[in-house]
Amino acid sequence: MAPLRIALYNGKGGCGKTTLAWNLAMGLARRAPTLLVDADPQGSLGDWADWAGSEGRYSIAFCDWAGWCEGGQPDHRYRVTDCPPRLDGDGIEAILGQADVVLLPVLPSPLDLWASRRSAEFLQDLQGRRPGLRGYFVLNQVEARSALSRASQSAIAAMGLPVLPVRVARRAVYRSAAVDGVSVYHMGRHAAAACDEIERLIEEIVK
Ligand SMILES: Nc1ncnc2c1ncn2[C@@H]1O[C@H](COP(=O)(O)OP(=O)(O)O)[C@@H](O)[C@H]1O
Ligand SMILES: [Mg+2]
Repeated sequence: MAPLRIALYNGKGGCGKTTLAWNLAMGLARRAPTLLVDADPQGSLGDWADWAGSEGRYSIAFCDWAGWCEGGQPDHRYRVTDCPPRLDGDGIEAILGQADVVLLPVLPSPLDLWASRRSAEFLQDLQGRRPGLRGYFVLNQVEARSALSRASQSAIAAMGLPVLPVRVARRAVYRSAAVDGVSVYHMGRHAAAACDEIERLIEEIVK
């Protein structure tokens, strides 16, 4: 079966591409063999991650974009690619060109949403050329119990890209897991809510 290919994309930095790519890959590796591709040349995934301690139930392999292009990666059911914080260009086209699902993490503020507008347009332009390509906003770093402001709702509506129902909350455990080089799945009981939202995100992507 061909792998399901998921890319985390937004030309804007700091919205959660790397955090979500990493945790999604770890959650997916609990289901089936997974490959995590770090396409950010300044990416640090390979440097800090404690790979030995971070496997799920199945294997998780890792490579950078150059390594991916060279080939030779093990067979996998899921592939997660972390994009560099670039809006467009050949590199991005090549990465998104091989994705089935593109997730565009956004912070839930009108300012951040509008700053992601050109990325959303770029993705929709690609979808125009590849009708099977799925693309969604993922609201990340959402404050607990806070409703989405009307301004944010209208920014989302104006951009016309669907939003996945799961919202990823702002949680210290995402940062502390990153500091420890592990995913939220390895952070014990106080990460249960974070694991739960990553699981729900995965269910929405793989269904
Ligand atoms: N849901 C979250 N809760 C708390 N901190 C987060 C969350 N998502 C991301 N962060 C933090 O925000 C910063 C930017 O996230 P990162 O994944 O590096 O973004 P990007 O890859 O888009 O530049 C990092 O310090 C990361 O730990
Ligand atoms: Mg990043």
